[in-house]
Amino acid sequence: MTISPDVAAVSTSRSQRARHYVMTRPTFFTVAYAINPWMDTTTPVDVERAVAQWETLRATYSTLGHTVDLVDPVPGLPDMVYAANAGLIINGTAIVARFKHAERDGESVAYATWMDRRGHAPVSTFHVNEGQGDLLVVGSMILAGTGFRTDPRAHAEVAALTGMPVISLELVDPRFYHLDTALAVLDDTTIAYYPPAFTDRARAQLQQLFPDAIEVSSTDAYVLGLNAVSDGKHVVHPAQATGFAEQLYHAGFHPIGVDLSELLKGGGSVKCCTLEVFS
Ligand code: ARG
Repeated sequence: MTISPDVAAVSTSRSQRARHYVMTRPTFFTVAYAINPWMDTTTPVDVERAVAQWETLRATYSTLGHTVDLVDPVPGLPDMVYAANAGLIINGTAIVARFKHAERDGESVAYATWMDRRGHAPVSTFHVNEGQGDLLVVGSMILAGTGFRTDPRAHAEVAALTGMPVISLELVDPRFYHLDTALAVLDDTTIAYYPPAFTDRARAQLQQLFPDAIEVSSTDAYVLGLNAVSDGKHVVHPAQATGFAEQLYHAGFHPIGVDLSELLKGGGSVKCCTLEVFS
């Protein structure tokens, strides 16, 4: 569905903040191995289409006035397009990812080199951390996923390295293996999430911290609808998540659907393709 902002009957007014994003073109994208339930190595991938869909996402950010830096893709690292996993760059600290699966190890090297060149001296964690796949900044705190990828011991390392409070949230459904597949940060105090992806304890924590959170339906969660990127007002989300788009609209946000169906074959969408640099 297309929602025109001028017919928006909304009372809440949301404000956008200019953002700094990092992206990697899916030049070498393919599904060569399967490390999450979305990946099927027998499904053919149309790289040209993946690149075209990704270019639309990049253009969407530029049109909204955001800065987009590009990292050079490396042959043989098909998941490098999911730049969110590169690490966490915040307040002058650049934590580079330590991946769970050996297939992605080379990405840490590529992204550390990029960070170094950009003047963000990268630091590593001892335990597995998959960057902004599992480490989501909400205002002055970090929500940290665990259960499938990022080790809870890395949460403590991230807290020590950033000086920020880190709230550990355990995921339970393998389809939602990274926090950014089950939870979207909409602004400094607002989130959307899919409760069944979390343990009872994590749900209770989220309810307490964000009583006004948007809870999405299974239909939207199953198309990775929560894998979205917000600038505080515009929420760029997987186009198939039409119910979520309506919820966003009614909450005063401006939803913008982008079709990343080729990249969904690797188990990722809008947010996975976007690393935000917090200065
Ligand atoms: N194929 C990648 C993996 O399983 C997808 C990563 C998606 N990234 C994300 N931020 N959720 O690791």
